[in-house]
Amino acid sequence: MWMYEKRLQYPVKITTTNPEMAQLIISQFGGPDGELAASQRYLSQRYSVGNRKIAGVLTDIGTEEMAHMEMVCAIIHQLTRDLTPEQIACSPFETYYVDHTTGLYPVAASGTPFTATYFQSKGDIITDLHEDLAAEQKARTTYDNLLRLIKDPEVCDPLRFLREREIVHYQRFGESLRMIQEELDSKNFYAFNPDFDIKKCK
Ligand SMILES: [Fe+2]
Repeated sequence: MWMYEKRLQYPVKITTTNPEMAQLIISQFGGPDGELAASQRYLSQRYSVGNRKIAGVLTDIGTEEMAHMEMVCAIIHQLTRDLTPEQIACSPFETYYVDHTTGLYPVAASGTPFTATYFQSKGDIITDLHEDLAAEQKARTTYDNLLRLIKDPEVCDPLRFLREREIVHYQRFGESLRMIQEELDSKNFYAFNPDFDIKKCK
């Protein structure tokens, strides 16, 4: 179960309305490398991991990704809550506004709605950790792209925090991959055995 703490992991205090920025940043809510996909990826993968330490890493990071999703939603909300009709008209946010007003709905910057096909849960920890390492780098690249396009310091500050956490997650998944490879090497996991039972490796 989860306990909800009524505060953000890192403060978001944006004073200037900007629908163009919101239209870009929403990708880190419902886009292919966004925080919603990240949280669901790790919190789904953790069940089939025999190694309890790595299952714990997936739970910790999956939980933190939910807190990141909350931060991204707070950024979008603060960028759009005081929109005027003039700011909506002719902005890239206009089409989103028609469908969702200023409600939070998980879509990519391109407008594609969130889909579970953005992540995989394969039931094989080596496979899943490789996906997780790639996912963290893709999320980091997306934050890099946003930081190249966005200049408002009140928006860049929380985006920089989120970018740094992707790097920390990448490092923790790297440690997990080394840990499981050492464990499997010690059991001669890679020797071909047609009768091999994967459950014995858990
Ligand atoms: Fe992450």
